[in-house]
Amino acid sequence: MRLSVIGCGYLGAVHAAAMASIGHEVVGIDVDARKIEALSKGEAPFFEPGLPEILAEGIASGRLTFTTDMSAASGAKVHFIGVGTPQQKDGYAADLTYVNAAVDALLPYLSPGDIVAGKSTVPVGTAAELAPRIEAAGATLVWNPEFLREGFAVQDTIDPDRLVVGVAGGVGVSSRFARSTTGEGDAGGGGVSSRSSLARSTTGEVDAASVLREVYAPAVAKGTPFIVTDLATAELVKVAANAFLATKISFINAMAEIAEVTGADVTQLADAIGHDVRIGRRFLGAGIGFGGGCLPKDIRAFSARAEELGRGESVAFLREVDEINLRRRDRAVQLVVDALGGQVFQKKVTVLGAAFKPYSDDIRDSPALDVAVRLYGLGAQVTVTDPEAIDNARRAHPQLTYVADRDEAIRDADALVLVTEWDEYRRELAPSHASTLTAGRVIVDGRNGLDPAAWRAEGWTYLGMGRP
Ligand code: UDX
Repeated sequence: MRLSVIGCGYLGAVHAAAMASIGHEVVGIDVDARKIEALSKGEAPFFEPGLPEILAEGIASGRLTFTTDMSAASGAKVHFIGVGTPQQKDGYAADLTYVNAAVDALLPYLSPGDIVAGKSTVPVGTAAELAPRIEAAGATLVWNPEFLREGFAVQDTIDPDRLVVGVAGGVGVSSRFARSTTGEGDAGGGGVSSRSSLARSTTGEVDAASVLREVYAPAVAKGTPFIVTDLATAELVKVAANAFLATKISFINAMAEIAEVTGADVTQLADAIGHDVRIGRRFLGAGIGFGGGCLPKDIRAFSARAEELGRGESVAFLREVDEINLRRRDRAVQLVVDALGGQVFQKKVTVLGAAFKPYSDDIRDSPALDVAVRLYGLGAQVTVTDPEAIDNARRAHPQLTYVADRDEAIRDADALVLVTEWDEYRRELAPSHASTLTAGRVIVDGRNGLDPAAWRAEGWTYLGMGRP
């Protein structure tokens, strides 16, 4: 199928390349000429495992092209909108400037029967507002949120754990279709005939959900749940999922705070409660908390939208989730100060990690860099190392010292602070090896990724988050 992807940032670039890799003919469109030039040469503008390979493959096959020219969207059957929705500069709400600009620029190139599929994370109600403009062009708007995790973006796009498509009129239009694809009801009666009978409504309009099902055919064939909803539900699924994940992390970090005043161990606590399948162990990693381009901004935008809707109190807990999260950064800084005898002035502190999480070079709202900057503010000589994110970090915080080589970075350090759990630091840095390089033997484990016993056995002062 011919597809266009408008916005070639993290989401759009991965989506375009992934769609080409499953056989579609894809044009990626962005206003940023430098980004388009790089992508056209097969260069990923950010670090993402597997992306360079599928970019190269798509470009070589002729199925994947990139351009700044919006007219290239003509002739595509589905137009994905994957532009950013950043936090507004003067508040918590999402800035929809790019979504509106993308839709306006696309309108002249839409043909009757086309589908516009929103992928950006937007405040609930955005699709309903956009729909009349798109319908006036004879096209149909659907909302198809993206759940990809950085570092696993290619895998999450090609082989997602669920597909959600919101359509105007929602389940009332497509409920039979939705049930047959999720295995409920209509058993065996789905397939081609059911699909084709639903492919066109009585008014002759194309059933947009069926077209999206074709776009994602390989995943659907593998049994990936394909959930058809109304537009508002699809928008909410995305923010609700991120709100839940953020809440789960802040819940365990709240338990870490209690553990810290009682001598309990939050990692054992997480293991024990995580065995309850209703709770689950994943996302119960206590530490310096969440960051990145999604969770922090999405919970804030959700709060702001709920306020606008007169339901601020329904998600008031998200403010607390945000505050718990930010307090953990203070705690990590305090641990370093305490471990160094009450002050860090002119002490050499090496911060292991700059990215907001491993397998990423993304430093947006990175708790790791926040800790580094605060230590610098207290007068420490801060050296930051990271396998991928140093260039981005240097641009954002040029006052810090950056050393790419891990061993060089820790040489003569008075204290180490693990803030991003790359394997280089978590698994591959042996305490006996570190002892030969550093000046002091103090390590603060901001991700609870290390074995305290192994470090203590080498004579190190080990301090974790919510661990005795
Ligand atoms: C997140 C969602 O997971 C994804 O579904 C959505 O599409 C975008 O937002 P991402 O931002 O890539 O993805 O990162 P994720 O792996 O969710 O981690 C977010 C942050 O939480 C990271 O800073 C990570 O270090 C932190 N985290 C994660 C914890 O502090 N503890 C945990 O147990 C898990």
